[in-house]
Amino acid sequence: MCGIIGVVASAEFKRERRLGTLIKQALKHLEYRGYDSVGFAIITYDGRLVVRKSRGMIDAVSVKLGFDELDGYIGIGHTRWATHGPPSDSNAHPHIDCRGRVAVVHNGIIENYMELKNYLMERGHSFSSETDSEVIPHLIEEFKKLGASPYDAFKAAVSVLKGAYALAAIDLDSPDRIFFARSTSPLVVGIGSSENYVASDIPAFLEYTRNVVVLRDGEVGYITSDEVHVEKLICGRAGHSEVSSELQVVLNALEAVPVDLRNRVREIDWTPEMAMRGGYPHFMLKEIHEQPQAVSSTLAGVASEVRQVAEHLKGVERVIVVGAGTSYHASYIGALLLSNVAGVWSIPIISSEMRWYLRSLGEGDAVIAVSQSGETIDTLLAVREAKKLGVLTVSLSNVVDSAIPRESDLVIYTRAGPEIGVAATKTFTTQVVALAYLAAELARVKGFMNSGEFTKYVAELRRLPEIIAGVIAQYEAKARRIAKNMVNKKSAFYLGRGYGLPISMEGALKLKEIAYIHAEAYPAGESKHGPIALVEEDFPVIFTALSDEEYGLIKSNIEEMRARYAWVIAVVPKINNVVGEVLKLASECIPLPPLNPAVAPAAYIIPHQLIAYYTAVFKGHDPDKPRNLAKTVTVY
Ligand code: F6R
Repeated sequence: MCGIIGVVASAEFKRERRLGTLIKQALKHLEYRGYDSVGFAIITYDGRLVVRKSRGMIDAVSVKLGFDELDGYIGIGHTRWATHGPPSDSNAHPHIDCRGRVAVVHNGIIENYMELKNYLMERGHSFSSETDSEVIPHLIEEFKKLGASPYDAFKAAVSVLKGAYALAAIDLDSPDRIFFARSTSPLVVGIGSSENYVASDIPAFLEYTRNVVVLRDGEVGYITSDEVHVEKLICGRAGHSEVSSELQVVLNALEAVPVDLRNRVREIDWTPEMAMRGGYPHFMLKEIHEQPQAVSSTLAGVASEVRQVAEHLKGVERVIVVGAGTSYHASYIGALLLSNVAGVWSIPIISSEMRWYLRSLGEGDAVIAVSQSGETIDTLLAVREAKKLGVLTVSLSNVVDSAIPRESDLVIYTRAGPEIGVAATKTFTTQVVALAYLAAELARVKGFMNSGEFTKYVAELRRLPEIIAGVIAQYEAKARRIAKNMVNKKSAFYLGRGYGLPISMEGALKLKEIAYIHAEAYPAGESKHGPIALVEEDFPVIFTALSDEEYGLIKSNIEEMRARYAWVIAVVPKINNVVGEVLKLASECIPLPPLNPAVAPAAYIIPHQLIAYYTAVFKGHDPDKPRNLAKTVTVY
């Protein structure tokens, strides 16, 4: 998915930190977006364009290539998650033109790159990588040959790109600015006091400024040390221009209107400390421990947004809740909440599968899109398509002004703060808490809940931060002990019913993605329809029940697994007869505070997060950077 950063100061400005170090630190904050190769390009104080890049992770590459020694006043950097071309030194960004005057970093996918590459090669350009991105500096070079200014050449190059991109480019012929463009892939500008920044995500420059402008699709522009200039490219929306047109025609047709940024600058309330590890060995563990605070901030902040959304959902008959990965599991809980608490027909759908359901949707229906980043392309497309059909669209996101909230009719923001670990933890718990609040508010406005019941429900939600803190304190050591035994396992089942099912799905995903153990979640009742064939002595089977009703339904399944000598772990409510039985049936019992099952998911996921985290650590893996994964998925 890749992370990009650009920073520009005036040529006279000398900062305490060398530019190479600043870019390296910024890239470390973006490492969650990709980490197979890294590189940067700097214009030095004596006016040279220096490019250094290599396959490998930031710390190692930085030592190898001496990032910290390099200084200058303007530079761009990139951390890569390979799409076109495997991780290698030549495929690492930045990419440069034939004359070594233009350097470009790119996040996204250029769909028409083959056509562009052939066209440019016919005109004598030589390429040194297998990436789609390398066409961009060569296109800029080609437009400059026609007499275009560096900025016009950049815009013209952008106008022939099809696909998804966040771009930053520097050009020795215009050495005081960084050009940028955005279509689908995220890009934010940071406005500093003596420098300006452009990056894939806010934590990259959070140490220097909290004043940001989130760029929108189709926007291009540049930053200098004291100016932010943004335009809307009229013919530049991806796909408008054809490379088969003469380049001069493309240049002549170039049209852009300036964008007024006065109401677009936001001061965000994240602090630099939020994007640092703060003494924890990994961001994931820090973020697990931050959950009480994240849930409490979310509950404190969402009330009016939830009320507004509930008013709009009052007359809606069907609600589809969409999301991907962990956000799909939160969507699953959301659909159960809407059905069971608010009495509204609701189902969860994985974002990338949404298209198959669209044909039967229309006015009177609603889609709730759940996405912590607000940028996941599959979820964004689900919102766009639903909107075209007149469906009410609501989004639930952790990133203010990101693409999905911007394109939705209504929005609820979780207040989890930045999540850096690739595996979602605190954003999941805040999502389920916000959805639980929404379900209750909707039940209240529909007359499904009287005010006494509503007050009691919300009071229970408000106790969650304390309960979650208690669960972490009580079970971290036990999770470590279970994890010690989990490290040798090849496979695991996670089984539950009702709310226990999406919690099982999320538990299995955590174990898979960071500990690399094959884990599958099933409705517990399904296990005997096939999966149980895999179970043999010591096979891990993790059950989750959030209420005595759910426990009553999985009890026979626990017996079935025990009869096959499985290693049974059970997360259950601390109710005397339940715990008494589980202690006899299961190898490990994790009894949690009994809660209203609609409120409980945020607490009952905690042991699963901890078991997955410690299993990964004991296996020697870095849970913050699982292989092959990136946090924000802007490709489909
Ligand atoms: C798993 C994880 C991913 C994301 C998914 C959706 O731990 O983080 O599965 O949940 O990529 O991302 P968002 O929520 O940003 O849409």
